[in-house]
Parts: sequence; C-alpha cells; structure tokens
Amino acid sequence: MAQFFLFDHPLIQHKISILRDKNTSTKEFRELVHEISMLMAYEVTRDLPLTEKVIETPVATTTAKVLAGKKVALVPILRAGLGMVDGMLAIIPSAKVGHIGLYRDPNTLKPVEYYCKLPEDITEREVIVLDPMLATGGSSSAAIQFLKDRGIKNIKFVCLISAPEGIERLQNDHPDVPVFCAAKDERLNDHAYIIPGLGDAGDRLFGTN
Ligand code: PRP
Ligand code: URA
Repeated sequence: MAQFFLFDHPLIQHKISILRDKNTSTKEFRELVHEISMLMAYEVTRDLPLTEKVIETPVATTTAKVLAGKKVALVPILRAGLGMVDGMLAIIPSAKVGHIGLYRDPNTLKPVEYYCKLPEDITEREVIVLDPMLATGGSSSAAIQFLKDRGIKNIKFVCLISAPEGIERLQNDHPDVPVFCAAKDERLNDHAYIIPGLGDAGDRLFGTN
C-alpha cells in the first residue's frame, strides 16, 4: 500500500478553502496555488538525505549538516500542474523541471498524451510529479507509468485536491509512489469532477473556459 499524506496544517486548509470559492479571481487563484505548493514542498522533501560537512563559522570550526546531493526533478502534468512549479522551486531552487502534457478526453475520460520533455539525467533524480487534481487518477497514473517506462524509480505524487477514487487508483497502479495532498474530498460527479472540489483547475489557473 502506498504511503498517503494528507496535510492538515491550518494555513494550507485556509488557503484551500479560498481556492475552492467560485468567486476567487484568476489572479488570487494562481497566487494561492503558488503559496500552497510552497508550504507542501517543505513536507514533501522531509526525507531528503543529509550528509555532514566541516565549515568555518566566524568564531569556530564545526561539522554541519547539508543536503547529500540527491537531486530533485519536478514534473508538472500540463496544464494545471504548471501552477505548482514556482512554489516548489522557491523551496527547492536547484530542481530541474520536466513536462508531461496530458489532457483528459471529455468523452472517454481517458488521458491523452501530447507532450513530453524531461531532464537528461532524470533517472538519477528523485522525481516529484505535480498536478492540482487527482480525480479518477487516470492522468496521474498514466504520467507515473510514463516515467517508470523511462527507467525512473524514485517518484512522489503531489496534488492539492483528491477524490477517493483517484487515491485508490494510484494505490493500486503504483503502490510504490507516495501521494501527498492538501484535501481529500467526498466523491466524483457524473462528469468525473471532484465534489466539492474547485471546478476545472486549468481553467481557473489560466482564466480559460
Ligand atoms: C485535469 C487535472 C488533471 C486531470 C485529473 O486536467 O489537472 O490532470 O484533469 O483528472 P483525472 O484524475 O480523472 O485524470 P485536464 O485534463 O482538465 O487538462 P488541463 O490541465 O489541460 O486543463
Ligand atoms: N480535473 C479538474 O480540473 N477538476 C476536477 O474536478 C476533475 C478533474
């Protein structure tokens, strides 16, 4: 069974509530996704390995902890995952960024791939896949499979809002991939939208309809 982390931090919960509100503007929505991603990055990177290094402070020599050089790559699922990249990069500035383009066909609800560009050394990196919405789990499961097919082993998935159906799908398809999310909602509706959710994340981020 994959590890599942639900963020109950009051700042995150407060910001998620504003995000859900249909009267929140595109500008504010984008800023909130940025801020929540930043807050989540802190916890998502909790297990990055440390090593020790001798440094000189102005008054003494000491052994200090520094990141062990394990490298990170962020992989947003286009489009909506793009909204989470800058917040994550604010905390992990040396991460490289790959992109996977998938859209959910409105008739079949199945993911269709249209773009992929990944850092050359991605197999040596810890990969954090980003998408604000985990609904049926079709898009995230396909993106993760796509990365695994390219030899990537160390993968985490980070979303803002999840549905029980999507969590179950990811846990079945990718039990080795930890899932981090800010809210677990009630269910999907007949069009596979998350209820209560926040609507279409891509449209709300980019002001499209
Ligand atoms: C949304 C969202 C996820 C997907 C989630 O993208 O950003 O990628 O739907 O649904 P699923 O779990 O049922 O696959 P969408 O297909 O609307 O594309 P967009 O980001 O380009 O708007
Ligand atoms: N994609 C979205 O953007 N929102 C949902 O509720 C489900 C899929």
